[in-house]
Amino acid sequence: MQIRQINQGYNFDKYPTFQQDIDPKQRAWIEVNGKALETNVRQLRSKLSKNCQFMAVVKADGYGHDAKLVSEYAIKGGASQLGVATLKEGIKLRSSGVKKPILILGNLYTKRDLIISFKNDLMPTISSIRECLICNNIGKNFGLKFSLHLKVDTGMSRLGFESDKFVQQFEKIKSFENIAIEGIYSHLSSADEDNALNPQSITQLQRLKFNELLKQINLNRNNEIKIHLANSAGMLLNKDFHFHMVRVGISMYGYSPLVKTEKNLSLKPALFLKVKVAFIRIIDKGVRVSYGGKFVSSRKTKLAVLSIGYADGVPRNLSGKIKVMFNNKLYPQVGSITMDQMMVDITGSNEIKVGSTMVLLGSDGDKTISPVDWAKESNTIPWEILCSFKNRLPRVQVD
Ligand SMILES: Cc1ncc(COP(=O)(O)O)c(C=O)c1O
Repeated sequence: MQIRQINQGYNFDKYPTFQQDIDPKQRAWIEVNGKALETNVRQLRSKLSKNCQFMAVVKADGYGHDAKLVSEYAIKGGASQLGVATLKEGIKLRSSGVKKPILILGNLYTKRDLIISFKNDLMPTISSIRECLICNNIGKNFGLKFSLHLKVDTGMSRLGFESDKFVQQFEKIKSFENIAIEGIYSHLSSADEDNALNPQSITQLQRLKFNELLKQINLNRNNEIKIHLANSAGMLLNKDFHFHMVRVGISMYGYSPLVKTEKNLSLKPALFLKVKVAFIRIIDKGVRVSYGGKFVSSRKTKLAVLSIGYADGVPRNLSGKIKVMFNNKLYPQVGSITMDQMMVDITGSNEIKVGSTMVLLGSDGDKTISPVDWAKESNTIPWEILCSFKNRLPRVQVD
C-alpha cells in the first residue's frame, strides 16, 4: 500500500501574494518572548553545578512556542543539548541549522527509523537489547559508532529497560563495538508532588533505585557517559537529582511545576496569547448567548466577539470560566466557546473597539493570566494547555 502525505501547505506559486497579504495578527496569534526564554534558562542554569549540562526539552514544537525559536534562545541561555519526542521534530531542528546534540526522547524501533536517526545525527533513546543490536548493525554498516542513550525504567512503566534486568543487559551492551553510549537515563513520574522530598516518596524511591543501578554497573571513572534523571521538578527539588545533566521543559517556558517554588526564582512566561475583537454587539436583558443558549444576559450587555475558539486550542470546557484582559482590566468570557470564536462581556467599556487586541494569556498591566490558571479550571495540567495550541495560530516573536 502506498502512503501519500497530505499536503498541508499552500500553493504559493499559484497564489504568490497570499503569503504577504495576511497579517499574522489578523485574528489570533501567539507571541513568544525569546529573551524571557534565554533569561529563564540562564537562571535555571545558575542552580546547577558548573559541570552539569542543561538539556532544553523542545518537543511538541517547543511546548507550542516554536521549537526552532526556543532552541535558539535556550542555547543562548546556556543549553548544551536539546530533547525532542520524534524523528521528525529532530530532523526539523537539524534542517533549520541546529548543531547541538539532540536526543529523541520517544522510542524508535524500526531499522528504517534508526538509520534516519543516525544519518541526521540524532541520538535515539534505547530501551531493549533488540534496539541495541539494530543500532550496532547500522554503526557497523557505516563503519562508525552509533551514539545513543540507554533508558532504564525506575517507576514510570513507560520506556526503558526493566530495572532488575538492566545490570546484566548492560554487560552485554558494553560488548557492542559499533555503538557509543552517550547517556544513561531515567524519568521521574511524581517529582512535582508535594511530598517529593519525603524519604518514602515515589520520587526518592526512584532516585535510590537509579543510584543503586548506577553503582552496580560500576561505570569507569573516566567514562564520558552522561547520567540524567531530572525534569524541571526534579531539577528544582535539589542537587541530588542533577547528576551530569538535567532535562528541562516547563520551567524554561516560565512556569514552575512545584507548589512551593524557591523564593529567589523568578521565571518569566515566554508565551502570550492574543486575539482581535472581530465584532461588537449590544444585547438586551434575557438574551441567550452561543450554542445551547446556556448563558442568558442578566442585563443589557455589550458583547465582544473574539476570533479564537477550540479549533485554535482553547479548551471548550473553559466556557464561562475564563477572563480576558484589556488595558489592565479583566472581562468575563460568556457562553460556550465555539470552534472559531468566543464572546466576552465588555459592558461598561468604551475603549474596546472592533480591531482591538485582547490578551487571553500573559500579562497586561499588573494582571497576569497563565496556563496554570487555565489548567486548574480545565482540570488538566499546564503542559497540556501549552501543547494544545494549533498551527492555525501564527507564532510571532517579540522581545
Ligand atoms: C523524558 C522527559 N524528560 C524531560 C521532560 C521535561 O519535563 P518538564 O516539562 O516537566 O520539565 C519530559 C517531558 O515530558 C520528558 O518526557
